[in-house]
Amino acid sequence: MDLVVFGANGPTGRRVVSQALAAGHHVTAVTRKPDEYPVTSPSLSIAGADVIDQDAVERAVAGSQAVISTYGVPYSRSQITVYSDGIANIIRAMVANDVNRLVCVSSTTVATEDAPGESLLWRRAIGPFLRKVVGRTLYDDMQRMEEIVKSSDLDWTIVRPGGLFNADEPTDDYEVAPKRLSGRVTSRADLADALIKEVAEPGHPRTIIEVVTRSAQPSPLTFLKEAFGGGS
Ligand SMILES: NC(=O)c1ccc[n+]([C@@H]2O[C@H](COP(=O)([O-])OP(=O)(O)OC[C@H]3O[C@@H](n4cnc5c(N)ncnc54)[C@H](OP(=O)(O)O)[C@@H]3O)[C@@H](O)[C@H]2O)c1
Repeated sequence: MDLVVFGANGPTGRRVVSQALAAGHHVTAVTRKPDEYPVTSPSLSIAGADVIDQDAVERAVAGSQAVISTYGVPYSRSQITVYSDGIANIIRAMVANDVNRLVCVSSTTVATEDAPGESLLWRRAIGPFLRKVVGRTLYDDMQRMEEIVKSSDLDWTIVRPGGLFNADEPTDDYEVAPKRLSGRVTSRADLADALIKEVAEPGHPRTIIEVVTRSAQPSPLTFLKEAFGGGS
């Protein structure tokens, strides 16, 4: 397939691009820094675009069959609008170019129901602290992004991972389901695998799904560094 990946230069996006190329897809990697893009392949095109630049987004999407969105920003005390403004531009560009399949990364943190088996400490203290204090502006905008995706007429899937961590390869031991899952973390390689399968296979159209890694787990220190250093 001809796939466009937004956020292609981020740690998840690079994995999506490499794993999609390895699976035989043609990929357009969208980044604001096209000159620094580290991946090369005859099946790869690199497009320079900020998601808030409607014309640049339209140029990147033209001629593709599906879009995977992985762009993101760190936590901030200031208002964040890039998730919602960016997805609105991507959807407008998709509609204008007759591209129907959108797979969009969000986060389990915006889920309103508790995950099964979640501890009281997490439900009452850590989860609300992440959602409503340190990450409030980010998750408020992610929620707006989800609403915009859901109200579109596209064949969309919203993919909510847990806290992301880096593992060399997909573990093949991750769970995907259209409901709350137990577990708080997702390997970026597993997330990339799930995103590519969503576009390439029938997947879960017009559904919110979660992706949680079961086997490899980051240390608590790595988890905290991701949450507070890496942002979202
Ligand atoms: N970190 C976590 O634990 C966690 C948990 C759940 C969900 N998520 C979400 O999962 C996704 C992937 O996270 P990640 O940590 O792998 O990546 P990330 O660091 O959040 O960001 C990925 C890339 O987004 C691009 N980007 C940012 N603003 C942009 C803009 N205005 N226009 C175009 N591109 C822009 C940047 O690339 P360029 O500078 O090259 O343009 C960046 O490298 C994000 O949506 C994130 O919010 C993260």
